Parts: sequence; C-alpha cells; structure tokens
Amino acid sequence: MTLPAILVAENAETLARLDDTLKDLADLEIVQKAPTLASAIAAMDEITTPSPFLVVVDLGQDPDDALRGAEELNSARSDCHIVMTSADKTPEIVLRAFRAGAEEFFTQPFDKDEILEAVHRLAGKVQQRATAERAGQIITVFSSKGGVGTTTLATNLAVAIQTHPHRPQSVCVVDLDLQFGSISTFFNIAAPYNIIDLAMHMDRADALFLESALGKHGSGVRVLSETTAPADPNQAPTVAVEQILELLTHSFDFVIVDCCDQINDLSVMAFQKSSLMLMVMVMDIPSLQGTHKAMSALDRLNIPPGKLRLIINRYVKNKFFKSESVTKVLGTQPFWMLPEDRLLTTTALNQGLSVIETKPKSALAKSYRGLGEAVVESLTPETTARKPRRSGFLSRVAASFM
Ligand SMILES: Nc1ncnc2c1ncn2[C@@H]1O[C@H](COP(=O)(O)OP(=O)(O)O)[C@@H](O)[C@H]1O
Ligand SMILES: [Mg+2]
Repeated sequence: MTLPAILVAENAETLARLDDTLKDLADLEIVQKAPTLASAIAAMDEITTPSPFLVVVDLGQDPDDALRGAEELNSARSDCHIVMTSADKTPEIVLRAFRAGAEEFFTQPFDKDEILEAVHRLAGKVQQRATAERAGQIITVFSSKGGVGTTTLATNLAVAIQTHPHRPQSVCVVDLDLQFGSISTFFNIAAPYNIIDLAMHMDRADALFLESALGKHGSGVRVLSETTAPADPNQAPTVAVEQILELLTHSFDFVIVDCCDQINDLSVMAFQKSSLMLMVMVMDIPSLQGTHKAMSALDRLNIPPGKLRLIINRYVKNKFFKSESVTKVLGTQPFWMLPEDRLLTTTALNQGLSVIETKPKSALAKSYRGLGEAVVESLTPETTARKPRRSGFLSRVAASFM
C-alpha cells in the first residue's frame, strides 16, 4: 500500500532533508519535489487519477504564502491530503496549519518516529475514506460471438465518458477475457499487473494498491489488463475478481467490463454485479441468432432484462436487413446504433487511440460520445440528472447520427 506524495519546501536543504526522512517510508512513494505549492499544483494537474495523494509542505520562514496556497489547494482538490511541517512550534502556527487544511503536522528538526506515525495514521484514514465515499457503477459489454466490436465499444465508451467536455467522470476498463483478452493492445499500454496477478494478491489489494496496478491511457482511462498467458476460464478466480470489481467501484465512477463472447461463471458474476449490460451485435443473421440465444440464456440465469441494452455495431442502411427486423425477432429495440467505419477503427486501433481521439468530428466518434451520454443518463437517477432525458428510440437513433 503506497500513497503518492509530493514534497514542497522553498529551502533546498529542507527539501533534501524532508526527502531523506520520508523516502524509506513504506506507506509513501515520493513522486514529485517542488520549491513552491504553485509548481506542485502544476505537477498535480498531471495526476488525473481519482486516487488520493499526499502533499507535504514545509511552511518555511514566511508561512503566509504556503498557508494560503494550501487552503486553495484543499478546496480545489478533494483527493489531495496535506501534511505541514515547520521549525516554528508555537501553538499559533500549528493552529493556522490545521485551519488551512493540514491533516497532520510535524515539527523540525524531524523526528522519524513521529513522522512515521503521522503518515501511517493519515494513509489509513485516506484509505478508509476512499473506500467509503464512492459508489461507482459497473457496465458490462458483451456479445454472442467474437469480432462484432465489443472491445472497440468498451474502450471508446470509456474514453467518451472519461473525456466528456462538461461532465468528465472517472472510468476503469477491465478485460475479463482470460484467454484472448486484448485491452492493453487497444490502449497501447503496458500495465504493471494484470487481472490474474491482482486476483492472486487480494490480501494486499486496496484502493492504493489498485492505483499502482492499473495501466493508464493518455485519455485518463485506467485499465486492468488481460492476462499475459491464456488462463483456464473454468479455473477462474471468480470470488477474487468479484472483490476486485467491488474495490474498483470505490475508486471509479464507472467500471466497464469487457466480457467478450462468453457466458461463464466469471461473466455471469459480472452481469449480476452490473447496473447496465450492453449487448453488441451486427446486422447479419448469425449475429441475430446468437444474440437471441444469448438473451434466452440470460433469461434462464434470471438476469433482469431491464438492465440489458442492445447495441447494433457497424450499422449500414440495408433494405434486406432493417433494424425493425431486429426488434421483431428479439422483442427489444436497439438502444444505440453505431455506424460502420472500418478505416477509422483500424487506424485508431493501430495507434492505441480511441476513435474519439483519432477523428473527433467523424460520425462514429460523435456516435460514441452520444452513447456515452445516453449510458450515463440511464444510470443517473432522475433527480440528479443535469439535463432532460432523451427518451424515445427514434430520438436516440437520430442522436447517434448527429
Ligand atoms: N463501428 C465499426 N465499424 C467498422 N469496424 C469496426 C467497428 N467497430 C469495430 N470494428 C472492427 O471490428 C473488428 C473487431 O473488433 P473488436 O472490438 O476486437 O471485436 P470483439 O471484441 O467483439 O471481438 C476490429 O477490427 C475493429 O476495428
Ligand atoms: Mg474483444
């Protein structure tokens, strides 16, 4: 369990001593050293994760600036936890430090035991709060057969939600395909741990451990990547993966799970835990038949049909196969239709970028953004929805082509 930490001290000698005192603490990982809070804030803007981190500020000779900066920082970033230190031990300065938002205070010259105890105490508190506060939602994305665009949808939906221009929300994508998962290729990242590594270390897994285990895409989306060697899905550590998903919902607004095309213990667990299930199909007869079979299977498994949404991918107008036929056969209307753009999806994939980042003005990118909004809206309670709900199928379809 490590908490990322930024050290701030105007005096280079104090900064070096601070670094020397804190660098071996198991609870901390020093990620930045800065002379002023302003430069530390600039560094923090690069931290896009929802995870908490620590700022240790030396109040120095002239504490006014540092105290003011800390106060501003405290109101701007709820994920930041401030520790202050000063050679001035007067009750007045300690009081001012706590008023400015410090959660711990230690005096100078540094007493390693005192610091160790303070940091340990704060790391515990931060950890507890991070776990208690958030209640993210799980969205599963799956299909009845491979190659229909499930992973493409999972990754682009994640980027659409994470990079929403007015309401960005944090997203983690989880690859649950234990055999041929490929999420890290889609995002072109190398994550330090994969889902099986994590499942095997559940005794250590907490919000801070997760933070260090997840891959990070340039869009801000975090990724729990696939296994490096194919694992037997019949031996899947379902209970541990369920705990991981649970833990992720405490750190992210949305956890998007790529369940690929399998209905097994692992995916059924994810279906049961999810608030929304996006079932992807394409406009051909085998896909329609497969989707029909999968819907019957979900019905037999008592998965509530109310959380199932049908997505038609690679939609092209075709007089021999209309979306109305899908509704007729499956008894449910498509929730969203994503247009076909082979060149764009391939170009994006080969760069490790989403379609949204590759060609933001394309019909497909707009459609993913629209889908992201529709998904978030359908998971947002009416009372907290910030704009009127688009309800009808036709208006949604119209929106997907706007
Ligand atoms: N809307 C789309 N238009 C055209 N090609 C697409 C679209 N969505 C996905 N694809 C392509 O379909 C192929 C399969 O996509 P993938 O996401 O890997 O499917 P799955 O995860 O279901 O196996 C990829 O080559 C991808 O680029
Ligand atoms: Mg896939």
